[in-house]
Amino acid sequence: MMWYRPESFRLGGANQAHLKVDGLSAGYGAFLVLRDLKLEVKPGLTVVLGPNGAGKTTLLKALNGLIPRQGTVLFDGEALPEKTNEIVEAGVALVPEGRQLFPQMTVAENLELGGWLVPKAERARRLEQAFSDFPKLRERATQLAGTMSGGEQQMVAVARAMMCAPRLLMLDEPSLGLAPRMVDELLGIARRIADAGTTVLMVEQNVKKALAVADRGYVLERGTLVASGPARLLARSTVIREAYLGADKDPATGTTNAADAVNRRKAVAAT
Ligand SMILES: Nc1ncnc2c1ncn2[C@@H]1O[C@H](COP(=O)(O)OP(=O)(O)O)[C@@H](O)[C@H]1O
Ligand SMILES: [Mg+2]
Repeated sequence: MMWYRPESFRLGGANQAHLKVDGLSAGYGAFLVLRDLKLEVKPGLTVVLGPNGAGKTTLLKALNGLIPRQGTVLFDGEALPEKTNEIVEAGVALVPEGRQLFPQMTVAENLELGGWLVPKAERARRLEQAFSDFPKLRERATQLAGTMSGGEQQMVAVARAMMCAPRLLMLDEPSLGLAPRMVDELLGIARRIADAGTTVLMVEQNVKKALAVADRGYVLERGTLVASGPARLLARSTVIREAYLGADKDPATGTTNAADAVNRRKAVAAT
């Protein structure tokens, strides 16, 4: 059995939401990580690529109200609220880095927490829909989340976010630490969610696989966007090919990791 319903997802919207960010700066206290970012998340799947420490998580935290931000963020033409609960109510859901499930709670309880904002009857309806969208989670409904594998936990985290019936789903490195087959399933799910009409913004270090499922992409390095474009063109662009898809890729996996790539660029710059 697959992890997801093969047709399409019923949770989430067919609303094709649009996020427009201009002059976004954010950081921690006096330490500014992101400087003056301009980006657009159109309907479909947008990926933000970048090495460890580039500011990818900081970007999603700023958009989710977990840290303060400066600049303009328009969600379907209206200013995105600044408080997390209002952002969730506006239709934005985040699957955080490292999943952050409640390990001592069951799969069903974790999913129900994703629907904390909605009335009980609607929450029950969404839980039923989540089990229909992710059939394997129904089998695991009473399992403690902490006893599941990393990939299984990531499925729960995605399903939990979908319990908010978001118009924009943000995913923070869903493939991190997963076996290659689970990476493919997770990225496939992100693609299907986007195809079903929920706009998806995903940050990833797995450049090759992320660009293969995305419509558009941005490259973030040291808090600044250095490249952007349609995913197919980006995969062929010089900045991506030289930095991330170089000839010296890992022979075991056939992939390059973004941190190695930046180190290579630094080495090239130093010569
Ligand atoms: N809570 C925090 N307090 C201070 N600095 C932080 C915090 N979280 C991240 N940073 C710093 O912000 C920068 C970007 O981190 P992050 O957004 O997590 O990058 P990425 O997700 O791309 O790996 C790094 O220099 C990191 O050390
Ligand atoms: Mg991160």
